[in-house]
This record gives sequence, structure tokens and C-alpha cells, in this order.
Amino acid sequence: MGFVSIKCRASAAQHDALCGVFEQAGAVAVTTTDAADRPVLEPAPGQTPLWPEVEITALFDGDHDCEPLLALLAALGAQAVSCERVPEQDWARSGQDVTARHFGGRLWVCPTDAAVPAPDAVVVRLDAGLGFGTGAHPTTALCLRWLAAHPPVGAEVIDWGCGSGILAVAAALLGARCVWAIDIDPQARTAAAANAARNGVADRVQVLAADALPAVLAVDLILANILAPVLVQLAPRLLAALRPGGTVVLSGLLEAQVPQVVAAFTPAVHFAAPAIEQGWACLAGVKS
Ligand SMILES: C[S@@+](CC[C@H](N)C(=O)[O-])C[C@H]1O[C@@H](n2cnc3c(N)ncnc32)[C@H](O)[C@@H]1O
Repeated sequence: MGFVSIKCRASAAQHDALCGVFEQAGAVAVTTTDAADRPVLEPAPGQTPLWPEVEITALFDGDHDCEPLLALLAALGAQAVSCERVPEQDWARSGQDVTARHFGGRLWVCPTDAAVPAPDAVVVRLDAGLGFGTGAHPTTALCLRWLAAHPPVGAEVIDWGCGSGILAVAAALLGARCVWAIDIDPQARTAAAANAARNGVADRVQVLAADALPAVLAVDLILANILAPVLVQLAPRLLAALRPGGTVVLSGLLEAQVPQVVAAFTPAVHFAAPAIEQGWACLAGVKS
């Protein structure tokens, strides 16, 4: 039977009232997205800030009579009201953008049920859950490419801001002896622990809140894909956990933010030239 999708645009002030109208009319799902390309980056856990202009999409069963609702939305001042049929699809999978991807060397990220893409492939099997990180975003891809080119065989690793656990799991599958996967978001920690178990590396990936990390670590490699201001703020803590001669790989920063992040880790770390993808940067450096 499929569904009928009704969309409209509105201001943040109209949002709650319009969502209420959709729910009263029997919507099976109501989704809000950014209508004006003004991203809200990494809100704190539990916070759900709205964009100033939103697009609201409501799904109804395929036999729903939409005409009265369309008239009501127009009368309430909703903009760009539209209505279209939506065929059946695998909704759980569709929002996660997990497709088979190759990141160089032997490293692949694949959906849980995909065939092994090459006989010698190291395959991260991923279900992103509520944690960021499927490999689709350039910052994750940059870190995965670095890992594929520098397999951390036998290394002790921290993945700070682990999200789905994609980098922690990849590091473990590429030979890391032990990975500490840290995130402030409990939902990300749940996803990361599940992904570590799914990939058979739960015994080598410890998923923790930052305050549970042992104070006296001196790891070989730190991966941190977090926004630039957080990287700057965390610099002393990351440096304290990295052994002399150890490597730090930083992403989540824009190309224009490279100087401020480099400055926060200088003079302790000497960085190579950044890798850039779609305006995002990845910095790799060695602690002296
Ligand atoms: C951009 S995601 C990266 C996820 C994954 N590592 C990847 O590469 O795709 C950043 C993650 O860092 C977490 N995070 C943000 N600030 C943090 C902090 N101060 N300490 C630990 N985790 C943090 C967020 O909850 C989010 O899961």
C-alpha cells in the first residue's frame, strides 16, 4: 500500500503547532529537517535545537484522505505545501547510508549482510544506530583512509568521540591490541558497543565515558573526529594520554580551522600537511 507524504515549510515558531496538526490528523511519522541549510552541529546530549526555517514531513497510510489536511495547512500559513505517494522500502536501513565502501588497502565498511568484497578484505560490519559514523561523511572517510594506510598493528589506541564506533572497530580489526572508545553521548556508546560485538572485537574495544578513562594512559595512537573547538579544548587531555613518539589523527575540522587546531597541539606535535576532502581536513602528527 505504501504511504502518502505531506510536506510543508514553516518557521521555527510555527513548528510545534503544525506537528500537532499532523499528529491529530493521524500521521504515522513526523520528521523535521533544515529548510535553509543552516546546520546545527553536534548539540549536547539531550538538546534538540531547531533550525530557524524548517521543512516538516508527515507520513500517512497510503489510503489517507489528504484534501482536508492540505486546506488546513494552507489556512494556518504553512508554505510550499505538497503531497506525494511514497512506495514501500526498508525504512530502518534507508536513513543510515551504510553501503559497501573501500577506504584503501584492505579496509572496507559494509552493511551487516553484504558479501565479503575481496578475499583479503578487512570488513567493518556496521549498523550506525543513533551514533554518527557510517563512513559516508568526509571526516570519517579521511580517518579511515589514514587507518587503512597505517594499520595500527599491536597498538594501544584511543578513539575520542567514537560515535558509532566505526574508527575504534576498524582499528581493532586492523590489528590494534586495545582500543579505548570514548563518547559523551550515551546513545553513541550503546551503538559503539553493539558494533564492537557485531565485529567480534568487543574484547579489545572498551567503550567508556571520558571520565571513566584511566588517568595514566600512554597510548600509541589517538583518533579524534570532533569539531574544531572541541579538539582545541581537549588538546591538553589528548596530549597527556599520548606517549612520546605516538601519533594523533584529528578530523572534524574545516580546512580554514587547521591553523587554530595545529596551534593547540604545538609544539608538542609535529603535523604533516593536512588531507582535505570537500572542505574538511584531517591532520596527522607525531608527539615529540
Ligand atoms: C563527528 S562524530 C565522529 C564519530 C566517529 N568517530 C566518526 O569518525 O565517524 C563526533 C562524536 O564525538 C562526540 N563528542 C563530542 N564532544 C565530545 C567530547 N568532549 N568528548 C567525547 N566525545 C565527544 C559526539 O557525541 C559524537 O559522537
